[in-house]
Amino acid sequence: MSEAAKREQWSGRLGFILAASGSAVGLGNLWKFPYITWENKGGAFVLVYLACIAVIGLPVMISEILIGRRTSQSAVPAFRALGTPRWAFVGWMGVITGVLILAFYSVIAGWSLRSFVQCVGWSINGYEAPTGEAFGAFLAAGGSQVGLGATFLALTAVIVVRGISGGIERATKILMPVLLLIMLYLAFTAMTLDGFGDAIAFLFRPSFSEIGKAGILEALGHAFFTLSLGMGAMITYGSYVQKKESIVGISLTVAILDTVIAIVACVIMFSIIFTVPSLRETMEHGGGGSTVGMLFVTLPNLFYTAMPGGVVIGPLFYVLVAFAALSSTISLLEVVVATLVDRFSWTRIKATAVATGTIFFFSIGCALSLGASEFLSNFRLFGAEPGGLNKVVAADKAGVLAWFDHVTANWLLPLGGLFITIYVGWVLMSKEAEEELDVGGSTPRWAWTAWRFAVRFLAPLAIGWIVFEVIRGGDFS
Ligand code: TRP
Repeated sequence: MSEAAKREQWSGRLGFILAASGSAVGLGNLWKFPYITWENKGGAFVLVYLACIAVIGLPVMISEILIGRRTSQSAVPAFRALGTPRWAFVGWMGVITGVLILAFYSVIAGWSLRSFVQCVGWSINGYEAPTGEAFGAFLAAGGSQVGLGATFLALTAVIVVRGISGGIERATKILMPVLLLIMLYLAFTAMTLDGFGDAIAFLFRPSFSEIGKAGILEALGHAFFTLSLGMGAMITYGSYVQKKESIVGISLTVAILDTVIAIVACVIMFSIIFTVPSLRETMEHGGGGSTVGMLFVTLPNLFYTAMPGGVVIGPLFYVLVAFAALSSTISLLEVVVATLVDRFSWTRIKATAVATGTIFFFSIGCALSLGASEFLSNFRLFGAEPGGLNKVVAADKAGVLAWFDHVTANWLLPLGGLFITIYVGWVLMSKEAEEELDVGGSTPRWAWTAWRFAVRFLAPLAIGWIVFEVIRGGDFS
């Protein structure tokens, strides 16, 4: 069973912060947040999102890391080790969620490989603004979508099979700082664009008539997604954290870093959109495809029309996007693999092979749901027609990939988070949590009191209320 005694550990504080922020920072920040913020009209959505990060996300992150470090186990055995085996279902739910997220995530991550190749071509031969149709055609090319996604999964598996310090830590230690530097350079360039002011106004001027209950659930769900919460990833990563580290300090650092990168990504992309009239036109009146492709279609515009050194930065940027995605896919796969290893005493190789194979199967469905297969592209779980449960559960989205994305982020992760807060707030002995957080030592009393209040009342009630409102608002006729 457990091999807690010889369990690997992060080499230190920086190692863990980089690995955890590597998990947090990914396509959620660079691809998803800008486009859902655009679709939800910025302002109020951003504000709700920030509130969700601070009031729900941060306390949940502290809770997950606490469970992991207390037990030195991944989620399923962790609940057993704490003497509450009935709660192991939360861990299993996380494993399923992880499989579903990784299935679609690896497909999108594959797009960054294509963008890299495309940028190398532009850097050599000169930039030619791509048409909206070109991106649509790329999405509909089933073979490329499956192949690129599979490539990404394979890369992830190779790193995960090598274990914590050998693979995950070494990779993220180099990549995260470089990504941050390039993002800052991009942000400075964006400040010189005419559309910068409009972008800031769009992001930070809230208009509350524009956000509904579904938008609030989306903001909440994304807070979980972007911080890698609600499925045991931080329990698993926490299980490798050394006892002397401050859980609260680490969590705060990761949450701030993740939020800054997400906001900066929006500033960059919206500045471009508000600067180029034709882009703005398609974004405001074009279909969903143009928003989904923001990171891959809109951004190259900046590299090749407004940015000194863009011919070098462009291709390099997509390498970094790929790495940001990779440090996230690693954490997703690690949850599944660690569970199989801890629970069934499988070897890492066997666990990685079985997990990757299963995920690849589902990723084929996602890859072909972007136009290649008509059936998969129009998939809705509750009948072909929009409305009813399709509307309540998935905001009427169609296609396997869109469904996996929506159901995991908006339902499974918040539900996982709800269970974790209830567990830590009401089931886990307060003395154990107090000890693990080193209250009075590295964690001040007031922070402990605030965290207790958040996990016992604030977070569970807020999550429960939002979910309830969305279900209640549904039209089931
Ligand atoms: N947080 C990552 C991102 O924003 C995605 C991710 C990695 C994730 N691991 C996770 C999401 C675990 C939920 C749970 O891109």
